[in-house]
Amino acid sequence: MTTYHFPKSFIWGAATSSYQIEGAWQADGKGESIWDRFSHIPGKIEDGSTGDVACDHYYRWPEDVALMRSLNLQAYRFSIAWPRILPEGVGRVNQKGLDFYGRLVDGLLEAGITPFATLYHWDLPQVLQNKGGWPERFLVDAFAEYADVVSRHLGDRVKNWMTHNEPWVATFVAYQMGEHAPGLHDQAAALRAAHHLLVSHGRAVPIIRANSPDAEVGIVLNTTHVYPASASAADYHQGRWLDGWINRWFMDPLYGRHYPADMVAAFSDQLHGMDFVQPGDMDAIAVHTDFLGVNYYTRSVNRDDNAPDNLPRAVDPSLNEHTEMGWEVYPDALFELLMRLHTDYRAPKLYITENGASYSDGPDATGRVPDTRRLDYLRHHLLACHRAIENGVPLAGYFAWSLLDNFEWAKGFSQRFGLVWVDYETQQRIPKDSALWYRDVIGRNGVIGDR
Ligand code: FCB
Repeated sequence: MTTYHFPKSFIWGAATSSYQIEGAWQADGKGESIWDRFSHIPGKIEDGSTGDVACDHYYRWPEDVALMRSLNLQAYRFSIAWPRILPEGVGRVNQKGLDFYGRLVDGLLEAGITPFATLYHWDLPQVLQNKGGWPERFLVDAFAEYADVVSRHLGDRVKNWMTHNEPWVATFVAYQMGEHAPGLHDQAAALRAAHHLLVSHGRAVPIIRANSPDAEVGIVLNTTHVYPASASAADYHQGRWLDGWINRWFMDPLYGRHYPADMVAAFSDQLHGMDFVQPGDMDAIAVHTDFLGVNYYTRSVNRDDNAPDNLPRAVDPSLNEHTEMGWEVYPDALFELLMRLHTDYRAPKLYITENGASYSDGPDATGRVPDTRRLDYLRHHLLACHRAIENGVPLAGYFAWSLLDNFEWAKGFSQRFGLVWVDYETQQRIPKDSALWYRDVIGRNGVIGDR
């Protein structure tokens, strides 16, 4: 076993999002979000739960900040609930909503923890969805207004901003696949939504910079690394298509390359000549950012089952460990992915803004939570990060997903990603073994293991 030390400036953190932990869904003048609406529709959430209370973090944040401090966390990535700030989506500002985040940020800073704020982690004000939501162009202005209000209020203290979390999920999973709020099944609408979300990012970045001097601003993407199941052309093309949809459809325009031509062709029936792209949009989207946030959980293995005479499978994910989400554990892909993103796009700096594993291990008879599989998952993914840094990737920090067990969207409370166990009956928090291990990793700025 070797200790792999990280660069001195490396930032160690954990991440959450507003709807998944805050609860207090109607407190202090908050408006309804699309997740409030969606989770209350019977059948939409696997275990019938909602985020009405979740981890009750809206009231328990001082305890949670103390917990972060006890775990040595240097940074905390959280998101801001748009309907707390602008209950009608635009216009009237709800001071109490702003005050909540002001208190949280002050508490973090007092505890020596750097706040990383995400503006949009999926809880769109329902009133804006009633007018069509992200497929409609007016959302660009609405988001710019929201970004302005928040960064004007918190920009003196928050110096690390993320506009959007996972645009692919926020648009395709929500508007095309129907699994997330608002639960629609309309591919053309999802493509328009994705464009508006990207333009809104481009509009927000200069606004945040103006309101928050010296701030670093970026966007967070869900990413994957594709592995064709065999060397056949059919499997290669399927992998290329998935990479085009999940990675390149967002990365290419963000880094100034317009939408990828192969995917424009693949989506042509749904794009209607891309009439939703207005003059100046592509330049706006390609605005310079300080960092790219990378969320990584698993790789993708691509197999074209319909291809006649396909070659036998050379890659078989079923041989590997899977988490309770059903996601294959494959840390090497994180290394490959980081190398690829750096080689192809050259972001000035990268963060892992989410990485983690769902395992339901709970307290044993002594009250300890021995979540060995999560600990191993984190160890191996951190070693992959270390390798990438050694190979020249400017990876500046790592945020474990998640600080707490929480409301896992359509899976409700059936999936636990936390470093910290949450008893949803009593709201008791118990740091799992992985949390204590992570605390020590941060303490020594290094991971002990075998690469
Ligand atoms: C990501 C989300 C995050 C969490 C993890 C498991 O897609 O950004 O909120 O649900 O997956």
